[in-house]
Amino acid sequence: MDVFKVSGNGPLNGQIKVGGAKNAALPILAATLLTDETVVLRNVPDLSDMRFMLEILRHVGAETVQPEPGVWEITSKQITHIAPYDLVRKMRASVCLLGPLVARMRKAEVSIPGGCVIGPRPIDLHIKGLKKLNCQVEIANGYVHVDASEIQGGPIFLGGRSGSTVTGTANIVMAATLAPGTTRLECAACEPEVVDLCNMLVKMGAKITGIGSPELVITGVEKLHGCEHSVIADRIEAGTFVIAGAITRGDVTVKGIAPKLLGAFLDKLEEAGLPMELGEDYIRVLPYEGSLKTVDVVTLPHPGYPTDLQAQLGALMTQTEGLSIITERIYPNRFMHVPELQRMGADISIEGPSAIIKGATKLSGAPVMASDLRASAALILAAFAAVGDTWIQRIYHLDRGYERFEQKLSAIGAKIERLKDTDMPKELLED
Ligand code: EPZ
Repeated sequence: MDVFKVSGNGPLNGQIKVGGAKNAALPILAATLLTDETVVLRNVPDLSDMRFMLEILRHVGAETVQPEPGVWEITSKQITHIAPYDLVRKMRASVCLLGPLVARMRKAEVSIPGGCVIGPRPIDLHIKGLKKLNCQVEIANGYVHVDASEIQGGPIFLGGRSGSTVTGTANIVMAATLAPGTTRLECAACEPEVVDLCNMLVKMGAKITGIGSPELVITGVEKLHGCEHSVIADRIEAGTFVIAGAITRGDVTVKGIAPKLLGAFLDKLEEAGLPMELGEDYIRVLPYEGSLKTVDVVTLPHPGYPTDLQAQLGALMTQTEGLSIITERIYPNRFMHVPELQRMGADISIEGPSAIIKGATKLSGAPVMASDLRASAALILAAFAAVGDTWIQRIYHLDRGYERFEQKLSAIGAKIERLKDTDMPKELLED
């Protein structure tokens, strides 16, 4: 199994380019099932999650062709309505097949995604939305069975205990595109990835208004057609690179990202006193002396502070003089990285949904375990600020969401190597 060896080193310097957004590309790939014509997708990141989604698309009958890196041509002439457990269990986001299959096939049998280390991730809102579209929905044998023969657009309030749902909104919008009548979706997610999906659906002939707002109106059409679409930049990857620059006090320009996609995040870094230069499609982090200021953060649905950048900010706050409180409102248990940061010397205590971080503490290299995608990124960022070597195991979590991570960071001076676990000092290896 691959591991990372990361050595604490000085300031990172240079330009680093952001790839396509995982969380846009996943529902967008699923949306290609809505038409029997070819959809050409560009700027699709090369990630294990993408490979899983493409495997599922092929399993339901889609033809997939990759004419060049980052480009996929997908044609779904004939498809089946079943997404089996042995594929869906590999990746939660395959639940995004529900909407397109319901719309196109008027029925679906999709395995219910399994548990997740970051916390409970029910799909009750997806099911509520489908029922509101006059679908018969039954849960049996670990599957969601949907009969959409009488599907009909209508009013839906999709808000849950922590507000809107991203993939829930994606599923209901996709289901409503081919449903007779008009669907008024309230408390819809406004994440840029949902906007990107809706923009592509409009290119396919869907009728959607209110894109980017909490109220989406979808007027069903008979048929959707093929299109060409380029996936938006990955704002979470960009935010991770911004913190890499900040935690090493480097001069790093993150290219190919519009700062407006990261409003709440950049606002918090500004509050912390991080010197930055913002351009139309780049964010430049500038060197600084002394300590940044601590900030308190509460994660919220977009345009609030993104939960997927919570752990990374936590790593930075371990190197900041004073007390900061990070409260996780989306996934209350999303602190799996904290015990590993404590092993590196961080002073963090967990009180309910909040992490209380006392800084600045001297971090030292240690063998640590990645538990999920964003937690692994936070451990690598902390390792950049640590003295000595940090060995990070289970980096398959990171490969799910960061394309060529170590190559991109090495190019701006990071000491990060992908090695085999057999290269690790034996005493550090997990049993
Ligand atoms: C998306 O997950 C992202 N994944 C997640 O990114 C991200 O953390 C999350 O949105 C929040 O921004 C993809 O887009 C593939 P939600 P999703 O439905 O859609 C509750 C990453 O690191 N909820 O918006 O699954 C839920 O439990 C990943 O890239 C219900 O209660 O998240 C959570 O507390 C991790 N019932 C909250 O809503 C439902 O039916 C938000 O979940 C659905 C959700």
